[in-house]
Amino acid sequence: MPVSISGQVVVIVGASSGIGRAAAVLFAREGAKVVAAARRENRLQSLKDELAREQCDITVRRADASNPADMQQLAQETLEGFGRIDILVFASGTNTPDRAMERLSPELWNSVLDVNLNGAFYVTHAVLPAMRTARSGLLIYISSIGGVVPDLSGAAYQASKRGVLGLAHAIRMEEKQNGIRTSVICPGLVNTELVEKRPVKTPPEVLAQALQPEDVAETILYISKLPPRAVIPELHLLPASL
Ligand SMILES: NC(=O)c1ccc[n+]([C@@H]2O[C@H](COP(=O)([O-])OP(=O)(O)OC[C@H]3O[C@@H](n4cnc5c(N)ncnc54)[C@H](OP(=O)(O)O)[C@@H]3O)[C@@H](O)[C@H]2O)c1
Repeated sequence: MPVSISGQVVVIVGASSGIGRAAAVLFAREGAKVVAAARRENRLQSLKDELAREQCDITVRRADASNPADMQQLAQETLEGFGRIDILVFASGTNTPDRAMERLSPELWNSVLDVNLNGAFYVTHAVLPAMRTARSGLLIYISSIGGVVPDLSGAAYQASKRGVLGLAHAIRMEEKQNGIRTSVICPGLVNTELVEKRPVKTPPEVLAQALQPEDVAETILYISKLPPRAVIPELHLLPASL
């Protein structure tokens, strides 16, 4: 019997587009108390407006995942507003067109690692104390199949995504004794704005076979509906025909 999501407090970092946005929509429709965070306030506001037309009220917060103070403030404001955080979804991610080693500068390396990996740590660090006190919580990270299987997404991106896998598994081993569950999802190609950052345009016939953000969002929701005794530590979700 799936666990009800209704009334659960869900913080989604990276909710202004793509997978995080699709997850915010699904959680809101299930009656969750959604706190949607990212940097682009106009995108967050249009998400809020779109859901309001379905009588779903969500909270939006401008926050930069690469800034530890922003992640602390996001956790603190959520706890002040709702009293707890049941689920954290970390969906923020970026890449650079200059991803090849011939072009990748230390600044670009840091900018990718700062969001994809450091951001995952900062927000986890911010939400864990309340989850430990509650002796419950679910952490869901979006890594990438590029963190598992070598590809051409770039050294910074792949290192960051392997890092997220390490972070997620380490946290699961440490925090399970505190009632906290940890899952990491590794999607293959998803048709989102991130793909536009590729140095070479992805052919339309390839994009047509990609996952849609809703596919990953449905997987996030599925993981969230598992009973507290069950966890999926790592899940690979691939386009069936690529
Ligand atoms: N698309 C794919 O093929 C694919 C495959 C495997 C894994 N993934 C992963 O899936 C996750 C979601 O990406 P997506 O495909 O849905 O792409 P997307 O539409 O570009 O979404 C990326 C999200 O990350 C947020 N973000 C970027 N920098 C941020 C920062 N400094 N602080 C806070 N949020 C930030 C963006 O919001 P703002 O810009 O408004 O801050 C946006 O909401 C990423 O981790 C990505 O690596 C994607």
